[in-house]
Amino acid sequence: MCGIVGYIGNRNALPIAIEALKRLEYRGYDSSGTALIHEGELQIYKKQGKIIELERSLPEPSRCVSNIAIAHTRWATHGEPNELNAHPHPSCSGDLAIVHNGIIENYKLLREQLQELGHKFASETDSEVLAHLIEQFMSTGIRLEDAVRESMKRVEGTYGLVVISQKEPDKLIAVRKGSPLIIGINDNEHFVTSDVSAIIIHTKRVIYLQDSELCVVRKDGFEISTLDKANVKPHISVVDWDISAIEKGDFKHFMLKEIFEQPVTIDNGFRGRINQSMGTARLGGLHLPPFELRKIKQIHLVACGTSFHAALIGKYIIEDMARIPVHAEYASEYRYRNPIIPEDTLVFVISQSGETADTLAAMREAKAKGARVLGITNVVGSTVARESDGGTYIHAGSEIGVASTKAFTSQVTILTLLGIFLGRMNHLSPIDGTAYIEELEKIPSKVKAILALNDQIRDIATSIKDCTNALYLGRGVNYPVALEGALKIKEISYIHAEGYPAAEMKHGPIALIDENMPVVAIATNDPLYDKIYSNLQEVRARKARLITIATENDTELDKISEHVIYIPDTMPNLQPLLTVIPLQLLAYHVADLRGFDVDQPRNLAKSVTVE
Ligand code: G6P
Repeated sequence: MCGIVGYIGNRNALPIAIEALKRLEYRGYDSSGTALIHEGELQIYKKQGKIIELERSLPEPSRCVSNIAIAHTRWATHGEPNELNAHPHPSCSGDLAIVHNGIIENYKLLREQLQELGHKFASETDSEVLAHLIEQFMSTGIRLEDAVRESMKRVEGTYGLVVISQKEPDKLIAVRKGSPLIIGINDNEHFVTSDVSAIIIHTKRVIYLQDSELCVVRKDGFEISTLDKANVKPHISVVDWDISAIEKGDFKHFMLKEIFEQPVTIDNGFRGRINQSMGTARLGGLHLPPFELRKIKQIHLVACGTSFHAALIGKYIIEDMARIPVHAEYASEYRYRNPIIPEDTLVFVISQSGETADTLAAMREAKAKGARVLGITNVVGSTVARESDGGTYIHAGSEIGVASTKAFTSQVTILTLLGIFLGRMNHLSPIDGTAYIEELEKIPSKVKAILALNDQIRDIATSIKDCTNALYLGRGVNYPVALEGALKIKEISYIHAEGYPAAEMKHGPIALIDENMPVVAIATNDPLYDKIYSNLQEVRARKARLITIATENDTELDKISEHVIYIPDTMPNLQPLLTVIPLQLLAYHVADLRGFDVDQPRNLAKSVTVE
């Protein structure tokens, strides 16, 4: 979603800001803009569409030399995605400009009050109110940082906000509540960003601002304080990954690169978390001793999007391994429906970004009810990581493709470890625990074997690329994989697809099947194989174009399928880590063959930070 960049230092700020902004394109946006101070005068440039449009609209470089700049990519919430609504927003006088991520809930009231004082608004956004509010406070003669402080005390909602003013051109003011902001530190220059990948090329030394902290950022230093002016001692973190993690390398798209990274990222998920001798997992970050974990009577897994599909798989795996009831739910439902969270319930929120608004709200709701809430997240220092009572990083590395792939298999890896860990405290024997661990360790090489089928899967994609609908079927633990396969193709190919439990198909979707309908079915070697085989015969009888994911050595499915993708065998609970790979590749190739922007699908955002 929206992205923020700010720079102050010795170098020319504009090219740095634009380049950093491009690194945020992956988050999804529909307009962009920048503000700088050239020869004492604030200049603002904004454009609807891609950043390249913004670049085209800039004057010749000598007319916008500056050593301070802010920039923004906007994903529309309040107001259309047009130039007026794009950030930065100036105040009436044009002396100051703001870029804002988040939502100002009381903006209507503030806007009315400011209009009564004579402020003229140019956009339909909630954000613009901040520029006018700060201007109003500055008119009382206080410094920019104090005007921002006073303004933020009157604001309800969430914000990651950066402000510059031509009256005080030696500083950027950054302040956050509920929306991430990071300060990047370098010699004689500093950065502000909402996403560390924007600035990693310049510095790895960063400070993750906490809620209600304000930072005055100068060329040669910074001071952090609370809204009440209490000094805050900065905690400097060093980012432990480098620029290659966010570059495409030889791959055509980030999504393809990330699909191919999965042998390594799955390995990163379980490496160091296995206790071979006891046939169990080590998950120290849960911060719960075994005698507490044994008391757990119920688990809630709460998430959105692809992370929700991982949660559904977690339900199947954990219930089977640990015999503990697991409830998987969309965060957007959980947060409002006043969920019942009995004592001895462990709530896990699962979020790649750790910033999804609904997931954060669900986490806070569970905490407000007194539950222990743990996080399964990818982004170090994210809000889930900071606000949860503990949890586990999935260690998937930066995920840039909007359609999540490697984060999904890493989440499933962690949920598998959790199943083994809790299982070993309950019903899972050392022999069974060891069998799972040994098989988990073989998964990366089996994923590699599936990736070697890339060309075959591209051929299959060619044969279905012009379809308008598709049905994905699976049973048991592969049913959520069918949901995920359908979501992937919907997200990036704009083909309507539904995931369904194979047997349930008879109660509706079978009516849609004809000779044009591709049906992608997961029919691997597990106790339900015979059942799904019968379901697929029903599909075939309606002349659907059947594409099956089968286990190597299967001799039956090619008799009824147009295409069969053979994958290595594994234990049923571990199958999602394999069965999802061909579905990711299929979605990728269909989208690529249809000529769509795979990494930045229309209307979607990498991290949905608004409700
Ligand atoms: C967006 C992304 C999805 C992601 C979902 C949840 O919709 O496009 O890829 O699965 O948000 O994101 P999270 O960061 O919470 O896992």
